[in-house]
Amino acid sequence: MGSLFVVKVNIARGANLVGGSSGGDFVQEVRAAAGIDRLIGEYVSLKTSGRKLKGLCPFHDEKTPSFTVDPEKGLFYCFGCQVGGDVFKFYMLHENAQFPDALRELAQRFGVPIPQHRGGSSGEQTRLREMHREAAAFFRSSLASGAGATASRYLARRGLDTDTVQHLKIGYAPDSWDALKSRLRQAGYREEELLKAGLTVPRKDGRGSYDRFRDRLMFPIEQAGGGVIGFGGRILGEGEPKYLNSPETPLFQKGRHFYGLSWSRDAIREADRVIIVEGYTDFASLWQAGVRNVVAVLGTSFTPEHARLLARYTHRAVINFDADRAGRSAADRAVTVLMEHDFELRVLELPDGQDPDGHVRAAGAEAYLKLAAGAPSFIEYVISSACAGRDITTPEAKAQAVADILPRLADLNNRVLLAAAMARIAQRLDLKEADLRAEFRRVAPALRRGEAPPAPARPRPARNCSLAERQLMHLLLTCSDVRREVAGTAREEELRDLPAGHIIMVLLDQERAGHEVTVEGLQALLEKEDQARLLAAVMEDFPGLVAADWKESWHIIQKENLEKESRILQRQLTQSMEEGGDTTDVERLLRRKLEVRRLIETL
Ligand code: UTP
Ligand code: MN
Repeated sequence: MGSLFVVKVNIARGANLVGGSSGGDFVQEVRAAAGIDRLIGEYVSLKTSGRKLKGLCPFHDEKTPSFTVDPEKGLFYCFGCQVGGDVFKFYMLHENAQFPDALRELAQRFGVPIPQHRGGSSGEQTRLREMHREAAAFFRSSLASGAGATASRYLARRGLDTDTVQHLKIGYAPDSWDALKSRLRQAGYREEELLKAGLTVPRKDGRGSYDRFRDRLMFPIEQAGGGVIGFGGRILGEGEPKYLNSPETPLFQKGRHFYGLSWSRDAIREADRVIIVEGYTDFASLWQAGVRNVVAVLGTSFTPEHARLLARYTHRAVINFDADRAGRSAADRAVTVLMEHDFELRVLELPDGQDPDGHVRAAGAEAYLKLAAGAPSFIEYVISSACAGRDITTPEAKAQAVADILPRLADLNNRVLLAAAMARIAQRLDLKEADLRAEFRRVAPALRRGEAPPAPARPRPARNCSLAERQLMHLLLTCSDVRREVAGTAREEELRDLPAGHIIMVLLDQERAGHEVTVEGLQALLEKEDQARLLAAVMEDFPGLVAADWKESWHIIQKENLEKESRILQRQLTQSMEEGGDTTDVERLLRRKLEVRRLIETL
């Protein structure tokens, strides 16, 4: 993220920086290269009207054209909705982009070298782009030729028709080491350029290069605004790797692009929703079936840049990844990133482990869209996946489900959403919302720091609290000074394993959160057994006990803790030695045991 920001700043400043040094204003160059009539003509059908051009306004609904472009002044204006501006304004409005992005993208699209690419690599981007366009054309013609017969049959077998193939510019890389290479060399591209584009691979002996894509079905990857920047090549039939993709190049980074977006963005905007799938063929089949508001991730994990790119078109998404483990974890990642960018999410898992391609071909677009529309919201999805395979009527399973769910909510910044989520989880798991919130407060700070959550507060077997614990609880409940001091010093691991540990932790949590600590208040946050322990400790008489005694009790508790650890270590040591365990293991246990003994003595 940091580096992107720097790039943006450079570009924004580029206008001035370049202004003096290379004699031309970068912004002016882009403005001229794009040409207002040329750019707008790609979005709106324009008719000449005197010195101006007219068309139907893309920013509001109209039947008679009031949208006017003046190429001489380089401006557009709509008399209907009063929107107007220059070429950048148009692009920013239409693509929902900020100025720096608009500038960069228009520069790329119309072949103006971006300032930091100037100097040695002047025009490199443009040449890479043209090379990709040539390569795509070559693959298409070879699909249509005799050499592409097998690939054509493969496409037919997969049910992709010629319309789809043409629209998505699908092609075929012939079974040859240098077919593409010689074509591009003839067109005047140098060996290094082919390598840089990732279209060829260097020979092992370092002498020259050969075609990367051979005997594969070729899916051109376009950037959002159009223009091929990379390829995905599928093997015909079985074999490894199934897909070979363009490597990262100056044009193409997997984490910044989607497959399909150039063809689907209008549909996404119109539907105000995007369906995100995993595969090239998922996209192609949905496209063919008429489901057009779709993009596919490029076999990479979802990035914040992906989210920002989509956010230009919509803030609603349906994530429809494969229902296998890899797909689920990829979906989780996408969910997290998209949530951070304020997307309203649904997560669709198709029945019987089908992928979108298989499903839409078998069941049709209507059935697919119905499932998508009824897909569970993010929170329902999270709850369902946590409950799957568990009998959530038992307290243990509930605790485990909660432990699965909360980490996924920790990064939610939206309080309204969080509150709704808590209510829903409590309802689905049949828990008290207050308990759930307390648990969330307990684990959230660690989770937000990216650490493992503190061990879950499991219902523990009935154990009696020691005298020291009872006294400490008593003092904590009756003296606010003691509460403050203990809250400042006690650490969770010192309390966790005590019979009264959970009670004390809940109490200290309340104190730290600035809530009033009362017996009634605590009762509401505790399980039955702990409620009884707490009450007993409050009611018990401790003759002569004064506030300052908390230190003594705390001391004893720590000692008890250490003694317990020492006993456990001894057990582990004995076991490890009997089993002839790893000597480093034994050494580690011994060292810790000595340390613990020392700590006990110093107490
Ligand atoms: P899938 O294996 O689900 O691909 O991988 P798919 O598109 O459904 O392929 P078909 O239907 O078997 O032809 C999902 C995506 O992961 C990436 C590709 O982007 C693919 O579309 N992938 C997969 C690779 O990059 N390389 C691979 O070897 C496999
Ligand atoms: Mn598939």
